[in-house]
Amino acid sequence: MGVVGSLLTSPFCPKPAHCPTWTKLGYMCGIVGYVGKKDTIAVLMGGLKRQEYRGYDSAGIAILTEQGTIETAKKAGKLQALVDLLQTSPVSPGHTGIGHTRWATHGGPTDVNAHPHLGDGGKLALIHNGIIENFAEIKAELLAKGYEFESETDTAVAAVMLGDVYAQVGDLREAMRLVVNRLEGAFTLLAVHTDAPHLIVAARHNSPLVIGLGEGENFLGSDVAAFVEYTQRAAAVGQNQVVAITPDAVEVTDFDGNPVAIEEYEIAWDASASDKGGWSSFMAKEITENPDAVANTVRGRVVDGLVEVPELTELGDDILNGISRIILVACGTASYAGMVGAYAIEQWARIPVEVQLSHEFRYRDPVITPETLVISISQSGETMDTLMAVKYAREQGARTISVCNTQGATIPRESDAVVYTHAGPEVAVASTKAFVAQITALYLIGLHIARSKKTVDEKELRRLATDLQALPAKVTKVLETGEKIAQLAKWMSDTPSVLFLGRHVGYPIALEGALKLKELAYIHAEGFAAGELKHGPIALIDHGQPVFVIVPSPRGSALIHSKVVSNIQEIRARGARVIAIAEQGDAAVLPYADEVIQIPLADPMFEPILAVVPLQIFAMELADAKGLDVDQPRNLAKSVTVE
Ligand code: AGP
Repeated sequence: MGVVGSLLTSPFCPKPAHCPTWTKLGYMCGIVGYVGKKDTIAVLMGGLKRQEYRGYDSAGIAILTEQGTIETAKKAGKLQALVDLLQTSPVSPGHTGIGHTRWATHGGPTDVNAHPHLGDGGKLALIHNGIIENFAEIKAELLAKGYEFESETDTAVAAVMLGDVYAQVGDLREAMRLVVNRLEGAFTLLAVHTDAPHLIVAARHNSPLVIGLGEGENFLGSDVAAFVEYTQRAAAVGQNQVVAITPDAVEVTDFDGNPVAIEEYEIAWDASASDKGGWSSFMAKEITENPDAVANTVRGRVVDGLVEVPELTELGDDILNGISRIILVACGTASYAGMVGAYAIEQWARIPVEVQLSHEFRYRDPVITPETLVISISQSGETMDTLMAVKYAREQGARTISVCNTQGATIPRESDAVVYTHAGPEVAVASTKAFVAQITALYLIGLHIARSKKTVDEKELRRLATDLQALPAKVTKVLETGEKIAQLAKWMSDTPSVLFLGRHVGYPIALEGALKLKELAYIHAEGFAAGELKHGPIALIDHGQPVFVIVPSPRGSALIHSKVVSNIQEIRARGARVIAIAEQGDAAVLPYADEVIQIPLADPMFEPILAVVPLQIFAMELADAKGLDVDQPRNLAKSVTVE
């Protein structure tokens, strides 16, 4: 067997498409590629800036210079470290280049491990998002052939392997195709070679990749944010496809080399939407965009006073009316949106609804029938746990709908229907406006099914639709409490722990309030269902312990309201410092709470959208008071493509 053959044949997994490892993959990084006449370094650095939310351990670029060489610059740390490096050690200009921002897995976040990695004696550069699971086996083969590795990364192995195969076949597209058929795991790869000065070859398997289409120039990115500054025209790259871009052409094939037609689409937002726009942080900007996130998600989905979601209409009333059980799958914040949605959909549509964390779902061998509807919720549409849950649900015969904020992402592509949330790009790593948009979308789904099944009478459906449309103005009103909350956060900036209590739809909001605080301020925070208090958590209450209580509307269940007021009295009696989030005019809490944050009146089912906003502001302000980076909290990345 020749050199190429020996590197390209694996006894375990002949083709990634058939790999069992499709189920346990990935990580997250930001990728950008450019071919065209613009200042390539500026295009790459702009694309990395807009994708820094995907990873910020290190960053790097490779340029095919006008002298026909490859020059790289790479640096551990946030993107600014690379910006500084480029000032002291500039890279020569060129018209083809690739850039990468990293969230480290194999090998720590060092300069050496930063991408790009080189192959073919420095004539080839490669960047990678994902995990190559069989890299050790390939590395051993390459070491045996005399190659040496400075970096510990799996990416360095892929770069050397691609260089080795290219040296055999002399064509970068073909070399990429041969290499990806040997790799196992998750990868988006982008490569350039000095022999083809106006070409970038890329491949996608289990990691995101989109093409930006320009005039006399083309782009690649993990996300359209990579190139939205220059073009609104994009095309998604499907699973197991190889892409080659030059300034004037885009060619896509599958991993067997068969041509694939691209599906072009228009990006629904412009570059300014992903800029800070004068705000101190993306998070501050995105919290103020909460009202728009709700309004834009509702827009076009209330027709003649009644909720009608066109995407569900396309799915067909017969299918919806035949659903006997709904399972919502999601992770983190999205799962809390799911919990709110479960209360609403079950109450309105009279279908049993449960919420399962995506990563628990398929390992419990769930009972799924063709009458089961699985609704996935994901801002990014790339969360690997949720993607795998959707694929599993489909394999088991369930109908699948995704609620997603990212056009053309993988999860919607794997689902029978998608209800997009129109929150606009969310750049801060911790989710805020996408969360309220997710809840809004779930309300719409619940009301649509209730209408189709006639489980809520038309008058009530009209009232709920009107109340839903009135929510954005009410969210704007809640934003006015921001200064008071900032003050509270400053007072509490040295507290070691904060607790959150809620009941019914307020319970997931308590969980979300705690998660936001953990993520942003690195403080111990826990959310509880208020009814659980006496079953254990009340032991945590000591003198001065701050407790946020989301008080349910007395206009909903008077019983639940009075029980939560009793809970407030119980914790107050034990020294808790109570901050109540209660609707305007709720006099019952006033005597017992240390602070009351008032929210406008809405249907009790819609209160989560209003109640969560003060908690988002609180977490942001407390983190800010501690001098922390609210947009890029430690150890996190926005798109969690790790299972
Ligand atoms: C939100 O603040 C979190 N960083 C995280 O919990 C997130 O909501 C979760 O990882 C799900 O992401 P997705 O919506 O993109 O699937």
